[in-house]
Amino acid sequence: MFCKTTLLTVALALLSSATPIIRDDKLSSVTNGIHVPLQKRGSLKNADGVFDYERAVRHLVRQKKYCLILILSKLAMILTTSLNLCSKFRQNLINLQKNLGADALPLGASIKALTTLPTHLLSGKRGAVPLTDQSFDLEWTGPITIGNPPQNFTLDFDTGSSDLWVPAASCASCASHALYDPSTSSSSGKQNGTFSIQYGDGSTTSGLPYTDTVTVGGITVTNQVFAAVTNESSQFTSDPADGVFGLGFPALSHLRSQPFMFAAMAQGAAPSGEFAFKLDQSGSELFIGGTNPALYTGDIEFHNITSKLSGFWQIGGGSVSVGGNAVASDFEAVIDSGSTIITAPPAAAKAFWDAVDGAQVFDADQGLWAVPCAAVPEVAFSWGGKTWTISADDFNAGLTDVGSTLCIGGLAGADLGLGEDTWLLGDTFMKSAYTVFSLDKSAVGFAQLV
Ligand SMILES: *[C@@H]1O[C@H](CO)[C@@H](O)[C@H](O)[C@H]1NC(C)=O
Ligand SMILES: *[C@@H]1O[C@H](CO)[C@@H](O)[C@H](O)[C@H]1NC(C)=O
Ligand SMILES: *[C@@H]1O[C@H](CO)[C@@H](O)[C@H](O)[C@H]1NC(C)=O
Ligand SMILES: *[C@@H]1O[C@H](CO)[C@@H](O)[C@H](O)[C@H]1NC(C)=O
Repeated sequence: MFCKTTLLTVALALLSSATPIIRDDKLSSVTNGIHVPLQKRGSLKNADGVFDYERAVRHLVRQKKYCLILILSKLAMILTTSLNLCSKFRQNLINLQKNLGADALPLGASIKALTTLPTHLLSGKRGAVPLTDQSFDLEWTGPITIGNPPQNFTLDFDTGSSDLWVPAASCASCASHALYDPSTSSSSGKQNGTFSIQYGDGSTTSGLPYTDTVTVGGITVTNQVFAAVTNESSQFTSDPADGVFGLGFPALSHLRSQPFMFAAMAQGAAPSGEFAFKLDQSGSELFIGGTNPALYTGDIEFHNITSKLSGFWQIGGGSVSVGGNAVASDFEAVIDSGSTIITAPPAAAKAFWDAVDGAQVFDADQGLWAVPCAAVPEVAFSWGGKTWTISADDFNAGLTDVGSTLCIGGLAGADLGLGEDTWLLGDTFMKSAYTVFSLDKSAVGFAQLV
């Protein structure tokens, strides 16, 4: 069930390989940071403005792409058998428990049963949409290179997971993507073990762990551990991103290795332990090694993370209002660039939508509500400082159907297993502020977008 969220979890999408990484010399004197332009290739809306239910649900289930299971021992083999379907947050919790012990699970967190694709989708068709859907292009992606000489990849930058993975040259089914060829990289190293990624629809992807030099926007890390996929399931081939670039904490790492930003700090390769996102219709950017002062005004309002050990970019003390009515307060929030909409615990989502005139349940299973398109509310989050307001336009996930006057709201209810009081704030929220992630301060910051 958790996957529902994922559904929504669409991550950021991708851009194509053409986007260059630009070092901005004008700003580098100030921050020494690096811009990585991001591109979004889609949304949950179809071209006609209708909410793409199928795509959303498939994405949700498909979130499994984050589910790397590293097999380093026979014991892990057994584990793999028992964990054969997974979804991002469930797998994160499993990693956490494995890496740090059961005490590391967030208070109230539990590992939920796996979600599988709804049977009407498994059976092949829903309406006119074929099962092997194509454009899961709801991610924000940007370019990186791996190896010497550098091999180019376009990856999904995800603050909600902590591994780097790309397709391998030996992968016959990965041809639509850029492929990592260890044999042509002088700095490539092979790690012991194998891993597998398993999908909610039963298919499996597997591969091998490597180390190599990884560069993002001019910041270079040597001996970065990552996974190279050698067998990719067919539905993954249409993903515009070649792979995933995890920006979460080491505790969530399936590969049990330091994520890029942590390795960059350890190697003195990044000017600072900060990175920041601007997500918008255009001009979206990830800035690594600081913040880009051209994109925000005023101070950055920082909030200490409440769960460094648990691996999420999670902050406490949040409150939210809808149309001016306060509907929830003092909750925990995970800020996740790999999710598209906002997911609240089921009871909180209900309380939220109860406060919205004209709102009605659209899909109880997926925790989705609809509201008259003319009355999509403004939603405002606060952590005791400024108020970060999501415009009605950004909160609108699309028409329920062609010619409908109802629109899907960008807040769903689902139990992610993160705890009863934990919200997941994805892209829909992140568009409302310049969002800063600081390893130095162990804090998440928000600033007013220009
Ligand atoms: C990688 O991308 C860069 C920048 O777009 C380009 O100049 C270079 O030729 C690409 N390398 C390969 C091997 O495609
Ligand atoms: C791989 O396993 C072999 C044999 O157990 C060991 O000698 C070697 O150090 C391991 N390599 C890595 C990179 O862990
Ligand atoms: C790839 O995985 C599929 C199952 O998802 C399996 O049927 C197929 O044999 C695998 N191919 C290779 C080359 O391992
Ligand atoms: C945040 O953490 C820093 C130390 O990292 C501490 O000095 C500061 O008091 C904390 N702020 C709050 C509001 O707890």
